[in-house]
Amino acid sequence: MDLAIEHDVDLRGLNTFGVPARARTLVRVGDARQVRAVVDHPELGRAPKLVLGGGSNLLFTRDPDAVVLKVEIAGLRVLHDDAQSTVIEAGAGVGWHELVRWSLEQGFGGLENLALIPGTVGAAPVQNIGAYGMELAERFESLDLVDLTTGRAVTLERAACRFGYRDSLFKQALAGKSVITRVRLRLPKPWRAQLGYAELQRHLQRAGIDEPSPREVFDAVCAIRRAKLPDPAVLGNAGSFFKNPVVNRTIRNEILEEFPEIVSYPLEDGSYKLAAAWMIDACGCKGRSVGAAAVDARHALVLVNRGGARGEEVLRLAESVREAVRERFGIELEYEPVVV
Ligand code: EPU
Repeated sequence: MDLAIEHDVDLRGLNTFGVPARARTLVRVGDARQVRAVVDHPELGRAPKLVLGGGSNLLFTRDPDAVVLKVEIAGLRVLHDDAQSTVIEAGAGVGWHELVRWSLEQGFGGLENLALIPGTVGAAPVQNIGAYGMELAERFESLDLVDLTTGRAVTLERAACRFGYRDSLFKQALAGKSVITRVRLRLPKPWRAQLGYAELQRHLQRAGIDEPSPREVFDAVCAIRRAKLPDPAVLGNAGSFFKNPVVNRTIRNEILEEFPEIVSYPLEDGSYKLAAAWMIDACGCKGRSVGAAAVDARHALVLVNRGGARGEEVLRLAESVREAVRERFGIELEYEPVVV
């Protein structure tokens, strides 16, 4: 099979930070057969791989040594629709937001809280995307992948994917070892608005909407995101750069004693999620910069490229933020994007 193999490819337009990097070899894969052909290829088969979706969850600090697989698998369809639920399927290369919009246009609510999240459908399970009171895992049915060692196609159900907070099997044991090709989502019926996130509820109340439709929730989420988070198409960024740290009750109470205003959320297992944005803000890091990389002036979790930043500057900035939070709160922040 003919593969579209490109050499010395500029990756600046293929990562939402917009930092410079070049791929020695890049292959665009449009279906599972092409992924298998890469595995069977005499040279490409053995080389390490970097799987690239929308480039919205990684930071290039250097040129990757690995062969870059740019996933461009298309397709959107309704697989199943009955009184209990609707199952939809999307190719891994479809834009996540495009899928959310399309499902609404088909008349199926259920993904609206996850509107406007940058990146592709195939990247969504990798970090179990989440926002405004919903995580992908809650809607996830199954996915197809191609194993990059054996070339075999495999289907995984939800339990096998080991979803956690911004975490999954694909970030752990399967990191760099497979290409997700298709994802299926189950949208339950009857649709119910998920308004657990206080700001979303307030937004709808202010608009005088008591019983919102999926479209109204979608519009509210889009409005909140646009007001709070920089658009990567305008200002390079990868969304939250830091995860919200999860700590046990003892640590949370110790911190609370010293910093009574700290924002935290109780989790089901008795631990607490601390708002990293609040801690970064409290350290006075908003607006801090290294070269053209800066902590966003509106949302402290987001690092932005003000124009011409190099990935290594973004990383130095991230390290300095991490150090500030460590010194003040004794908490070690984790990065959300993959650093190459
Ligand atoms: N806050 C500050 N300063 C700031 C920003 C926020 O003090 O500059 C405070 C807010 O007032 C709030 C708290 O920090 O009390 C939490 O902020 P927010 O509600 O914006 O949510 P977050 O925890 O910072 C998470 C996700 C976002 C997601 C939002 C909404 C992570 C790492 N981030 O942010 O996800 O959109 O909740 O659900 O879990 C992403 O992953 O890329 C992302 C944007």
